[in-house]
Amino acid sequence: MSRSAPPLRPFLPEDAPILAAIFAASITDLTGDDYSEAQQEAWAMAAEDEAAFGKKLGGQLTLIATLQGAPVGFASLKGADHIDMLYVHPSAVGQGVGAALCDALEKIASARGTKILKVDASDTALDFFRKRGYVAQQRNSVTINGEWLANTTMQKTLDGVATPGGHA
Ligand code: ACO
Repeated sequence: MSRSAPPLRPFLPEDAPILAAIFAASITDLTGDDYSEAQQEAWAMAAEDEAAFGKKLGGQLTLIATLQGAPVGFASLKGADHIDMLYVHPSAVGQGVGAALCDALEKIASARGTKILKVDASDTALDFFRKRGYVAQQRNSVTINGEWLANTTMQKTLDGVATPGGHA
């Protein structure tokens, strides 16, 4: 069955509360096979301060995917070459939302001249990124709110479809 890509739009400051809720629900419901409850709680707490979370999203290139007009997922590009966040609401997984967000960030990064795009992928998202051509470089342990969480730095060589003045 073919599926159409969900519409995407840029982040607006008033989106911070709903994106914080998507972030927390995504971690709580989707990462339990890979992280302990304590790790999930520490990770989800990163969006508890909605103002700070919104400021972080606003400081990056953040895109929101919508279904029936409501946000269901978001992704952010930090600098020119690093996917910082990618979270889809549990009710919307498996419908191409993550792929559409990633496609867009890859196109934008490529249009900015980025040759190698990097991501510190959660263990939950590892195979999602692998399927898209990202290759594991190194394992990391990062501390978030007092808990140590593992992730994997992965990278993908972009095709370089960008042309000066071309579309992103
Ligand atoms: N493992 C293997 N394959 C996967 C996974 C997975 N966890 N998730 C999706 N896929 C596959 C799908 O089957 C699909 O394959 P197809 O093209 O052959 O049909 C393809 O990847 C695209 O799937 P989407 O439906 O676009 O992905 P989805 O919208 O479900 O989002 C995501 C995937 C973002 C990993 C989601 O499960 C999620 O939010 N997970 C929890 C939060 C998380 O760990 N986020 C990443 C943190 S790391 C970071 O932000 C950089």
